[in-house]
Amino acid sequence: MRTAANQLYFGPHSAAQLCERYGTPLYVYEEEILRRQARELVGCFSYRPFRVHYAMKANFNPAILRILHEEGCGADTVSDLEVRLGLEVGMKPEEIIFTGDNSTDEEMLACHDQGVIVNAGSLSQLDRLGRLRPGARVSVRINPDVGAGHHSHCITGGPHTKFGIYHDLLPEILALVQRHRLALVGIHCHIGTGILDAAKFLEAMDITLGVARKVPGLEFVDFGGGLGIAYREEQQPLDLREFGARVSRHFEKFCGEYGKPLELKIEPGRFLVCQAGTLLARVNTLKDTPAHHFVGCDTGFNHLIRPMAYGSYHRIVNASRVEGPQRQSVLCGNICESGDVFTQSSEGIEDRLVSEFRAGDVVAILDAGAYGMSMSMQYNIRPRPPEVLVGQDGGLRVIRRRETYEDIMAGYV
Ligand code: LLP
Repeated sequence: MRTAANQLYFGPHSAAQLCERYGTPLYVYEEEILRRQARELVGCFSYRPFRVHYAMKANFNPAILRILHEEGCGADTVSDLEVRLGLEVGMKPEEIIFTGDNSTDEEMLACHDQGVIVNAGSLSQLDRLGRLRPGARVSVRINPDVGAGHHSHCITGGPHTKFGIYHDLLPEILALVQRHRLALVGIHCHIGTGILDAAKFLEAMDITLGVARKVPGLEFVDFGGGLGIAYREEQQPLDLREFGARVSRHFEKFCGEYGKPLELKIEPGRFLVCQAGTLLARVNTLKDTPAHHFVGCDTGFNHLIRPMAYGSYHRIVNASRVEGPQRQSVLCGNICESGDVFTQSSEGIEDRLVSEFRAGDVVAILDAGAYGMSMSMQYNIRPRPPEVLVGQDGGLRVIRRRETYEDIMAGYV
């Protein structure tokens, strides 16, 4: 993404041209950014063997999965159908890890029986899998009593979350492993998402390694995802180089003590795809109240729920006039709820100083590649937008067509 002649561009195409060609709203992804993020990540961790399992819940478009797979990423999955998709795009079972939460027996078996490792997040899951498949190779998700995240809904470690097996329950884990003669080959943790504070990761890593130390026969330790990105200009991005170096050093030392070089795994979702995706929409309505100047456009929280769900900040750019006279504005969508506002913070709706919008302008909502389309819905019978990929050579490819009324109604009988 770049600016030229005061317009926002994706490769050789202006936002306005893309909207003209594909209509609005529209998700645009840049292949170059996907590959850049994957390479940067791998380059920052010197420890080998090392594997990145892309958390496909962030964005499961098969074209994106294929690109990340080409860059060497496997997948972190949360449902049997995510596993199915991973296999369908060409990943090998051993490149996929299944970390389902409150999974049914059927779901666990569907994953396990295809050769995908099941990462049990509860003693119940471990016990059920053990009864059904004695001797299975399994992994366990530990709750390391440390959590972090950009919003309380996004913290997955500590006593207030439903995830993982508390780290002090290792004796119970080992008893189940013994009872069902399981091969416990992996220890996993994932403490939350959108984390910019490396100290939290390192704290969780220590506790997780403390557990791993007491488990013989391991093949890997997986430190989960959660790497944050700076959504706000003033946010300090994670120093990935420093972080990767510290984790690598720490793990190397651990393996020396453990007596075997284990595989180091991580499962980033957001870091890989967030900045590659932009949601484009067209402004059609300007409205003033005594409190705010509302800029209304033709998408809504049905296509990007993060501001409404978590008060998340996304940069807003007037793609038709990037620089221009500025005005405090509230960008809102076309959904029938007052929370349908893109300019929000943890306090709720907020004014944002942006280049003044006119009806017909294209608005770009940035950093929408992660948890945008994958969390979209058809509320108000509004079809989902198409997704277009701008290739490294500047070529365009529709990687998901616009949904239709017929698509939405297809399941109703
Ligand atoms: N591994 C596990 C077990 C996870 O639960 C998640 C995310 C990840 C990896 C990837 O985390 P990431 O690297 O993307 O932070 N909808 C929220 C995020 C929910 C994340 C759920 N789990 C948002 O829009 O911020």
